Amino acid sequence: MRNTTVLGIDVGGSGIKGALVDVMSGEMLTERIRLETPQPAMPDSMAEVVAEIVREFDWEGKVLGCGFPAIVKGGVARSAANIHHSWIGVNIEALLEEVTGCRVHALNDADAAGIAAMQFGAGRDILGTVILITIGSGLGSALFTDGFLVRNTELGHIFLNGMIAEHYASDATRKQLELDWEEWGGRFNQFLNHVERVFSPDLILLGGGGSKKYEFYQEYLHLDTKVIPAKLLNQAGIIGAAFFGYHQEHFPEKGLGVHPGLQDFE
Ligand code: BGC
Repeated sequence: MRNTTVLGIDVGGSGIKGALVDVMSGEMLTERIRLETPQPAMPDSMAEVVAEIVREFDWEGKVLGCGFPAIVKGGVARSAANIHHSWIGVNIEALLEEVTGCRVHALNDADAAGIAAMQFGAGRDILGTVILITIGSGLGSALFTDGFLVRNTELGHIFLNGMIAEHYASDATRKQLELDWEEWGGRFNQFLNHVERVFSPDLILLGGGGSKKYEFYQEYLHLDTKVIPAKLLNQAGIIGAAFFGYHQEHFPEKGLGVHPGLQDFE
């Protein structure tokens, strides 16, 4: 029997969170630990916070999956919208392996949340085109087609009214500009309508901190596509990162599909 306990880490622009996860059930086995993201959000200081979280946990195998708020290709950060630009070109996996002594597998944070939603949450067993949008410091996205993830989509960076969409409609923008729910809901609705027009999704899932406030802006969303807040809410980033860590550690040659289910790990 393989050990299915993996540490999931969700690195965000404002907080870094971690918990041990059983990747078969998708359940967190421990309380979540959250530490502030150091500002400026630079590689060495952030890696030290991840190491601090890792020291709180003891688990066999020392495999760690890390969701990271950037384009991540081959373990390397390729963008830096809500973190310091010195991250660009840094091998996240190598850096975190060095400071934690763990085996590390890194992916985009919204992709991680999407994996959890598709494998264990509201997207489970849904075929067709499913898009998860995470609402937080930025707008993250994860695109699935028949359960397969198209990695590193950056729908929060499309242009909307001459602006980068996440500057127009993220949760951070709502707070900064003190928009009321109707104003912000209208902006977010424009964003989702744009996404709908381009992708014709079968389902849109909402994640990240902003999905917890769905009841306040639900009435301002007018789309043909069904929209639901992902039920794992902002734990999804941790759970999906752990799942990815396990997948990459044991089955890197398999596509990152979640349907009909990566439970068929044999
Ligand atoms: C980044 C994405 C990330 C999202 C949510 C955006 O600014 O470009 O890579 O997924 O924020 O953290």
